[in-house]
Amino acid sequence: MEQKIIVGNWKNYLNKDESVKLAKEILDEKIPDKIRVMISPNNLYLNQVNDILKQSSVEVIGQNVTSYKSSSDTGGVTIIGLKDIGVDRTILGHSEVRKRNKSFKSEEILKEVIPEEFKFILCFEGIEQIPFNILNNDFEIILAYEPVWAIGTGETASVEHINEVHGMVKSELSKLNLDIPILYGGSVNPDNSNEILSQELVDGVLVGGASTNYDDLHKIINCL
Ligand code: 13P
Repeated sequence: MEQKIIVGNWKNYLNKDESVKLAKEILDEKIPDKIRVMISPNNLYLNQVNDILKQSSVEVIGQNVTSYKSSSDTGGVTIIGLKDIGVDRTILGHSEVRKRNKSFKSEEILKEVIPEEFKFILCFEGIEQIPFNILNNDFEIILAYEPVWAIGTGETASVEHINEVHGMVKSELSKLNLDIPILYGGSVNPDNSNEILSQELVDGVLVGGASTNYDDLHKIINCL
């Protein structure tokens, strides 16, 4: 049975106490066998949240990475630094990162991340943002379709639209024999998660706001 992936991207919504409290609630959560959960806390609390959740099946992941090991990277997040605290996956190329850094090109950072086989979830708003030629099956790569107009707006893409985009990307991936899951992100909540996660072309969801509230996250994890 293929597991569906649920990623909670806490962005910068929670402070330290709230992050710790929610991590402890998630620790007590019984995750259904058909679901895999990943949590991406704010970088400042990544270590603390990881310390709590490493006793569970929930994987704690970064929100961004800016270089492999550059020590001249003020304010950046390195792969070496993430590995050092036991984190071996990150979200990459989120639209909020692309907005802040207009010249962001995923290829540049992927050239450092892929040879290290550091796992990542690459976000895209359009198929042209996926560097198909440098992806591979050597380790777990995940893609996430996040239409910017659906992020934090309460406006979810229709399943027809999600299926169209995921279908297009999956067909490109299959031409290259790439076995890469695709998540959908953008205003996923307990009311729409069942319908979205039930789609065959949807391998999981990347949840922002609703993942920062235990009741909503619990409902999403148990929606199938
Ligand atoms: P919302 O679920 O708050 O719309 O955020 C989506 C997102 O950006 C997840 O990475």
